[in-house]
Amino acid sequence: MKTYVVEGPTPLKGDVSISGAKNATLKLMAAALMVPGEVILERVPRITDVYLMVEVLERLGAEVSFEGSTLRIDATNEPADEATYELVSKMRASIQVLGPLLARLGRARVAMPGGDAIGSRPIDLHLRGLERMGAEFSSEHGYVAGVAPRLTGARVLLEFPSVGATETLLMAGTTAIGTTTIDNAAREPEIKDLAQFLNEAGARVLGAGTSTITIEGVDRLHPARHVVLPDRIEAGTYAISAAATCGDVTLRDVRPGDMELVLQKLHDAGAEITREEESVRIRSTGRPQPMDLVTLPYPGFPTDLQPPMMVLLSQATGPSILTENVFEARFLFVDELNRMGAQVRVEGHHAVIKGVERLTGAPVRAPDIRAGAALLLGGLCAHGETRVHDEGHIERGYEDLLLKLEGLGAVITLSEG
Ligand code: UD1
Repeated sequence: MKTYVVEGPTPLKGDVSISGAKNATLKLMAAALMVPGEVILERVPRITDVYLMVEVLERLGAEVSFEGSTLRIDATNEPADEATYELVSKMRASIQVLGPLLARLGRARVAMPGGDAIGSRPIDLHLRGLERMGAEFSSEHGYVAGVAPRLTGARVLLEFPSVGATETLLMAGTTAIGTTTIDNAAREPEIKDLAQFLNEAGARVLGAGTSTITIEGVDRLHPARHVVLPDRIEAGTYAISAAATCGDVTLRDVRPGDMELVLQKLHDAGAEITREEESVRIRSTGRPQPMDLVTLPYPGFPTDLQPPMMVLLSQATGPSILTENVFEARFLFVDELNRMGAQVRVEGHHAVIKGVERLTGAPVRAPDIRAGAALLLGGLCAHGETRVHDEGHIERGYEDLLLKLEGLGAVITLSEG
């Protein structure tokens, strides 16, 4: 257990450099299993989830080295075919090795992830898509085992534009026989980044970033080097924090175009936004304006930024309604925020937020990565001391969080226990 102690209120001020995207890195690492040779990933964030994925790859037999922000993965030798429950239960994204292992080995056995703090998270769309490509699955003892002597291209229409399922099928399609088409594909920038890497490794992927992705199967992938795109969720967290604390923050090394709606919503809340090619400045001087907001798949408002946005709106000059459409249990942290003086009422997948003039510091518990970051933000806004107790969730997703926040003027310390 770790405890972040935050003294507030503090307006965040200064520049912050944004790290490579966690959600892209984890899938790029999984994709490296398909390459019989060395893959070099640059701008990789040093966060717990990446270390866990290193462990997954090593257990599967890949050689991995991590220096600075450069990760080298060598899966020249055929990987093992199993991701154990011990690993998948620590990090759900480990299931993303399923597609690459099936593609490379023709078989894979992966523990079923189960739900987590943000809701039930089935993998039926991944499995159904792979079945259309010729894989057969059986499940026993909490594991799903797949066989596919050689995956065959198919047209897959996703019921919902799932990020993970799109990535699984994208990876599986690269070395399948013939053409794979994914319709109603997720359009997240991380998917485009994955497709770009696969193309750099010899794949033939078209349309990533749109809702129809076409993949012409190739015989094999070859070694490649790739620079991970900036983390738009980390960037959005600092942007919202700047606006919520009446601060003035410039995000460096970002792609403003990947966070368009977030910036638009911060503008609607009253913040002044100045975009450059690779930086954005967010300035705010007063309490935010209330608004209604819904989370949706990209380019909609990201569910991962719903918790910090809730903290911002909890101090708005009037009532707001926030609707969560992606994960069913993403309001679990609301009771914690209310302990800090917020007035939020949850009704199904809507949160009704009555803006209050000020939050007050309190001891709270972080239920997951994003809600944890949001509670830290609450601490930056609140008067007095906030203690955020955390079982290691926050550092799963934010590189150098303490250093970056201190660089922006936050008064924050971390203690173990
Ligand atoms: C990824 C991100 C996560 C982000 C989410 C949505 C990573 C490591 N995680 O998660 O941070 O919040 O995208 O932007 O990249 N679903 C099914 N069946 C499936 C797959 C998904 O019903 O087979 C449902 C899920 O339960 C959820 C919704 O679809 O309600 C969205 O899930 P999905 O887009 O797949 O998110 P993840 O890839 O798990």
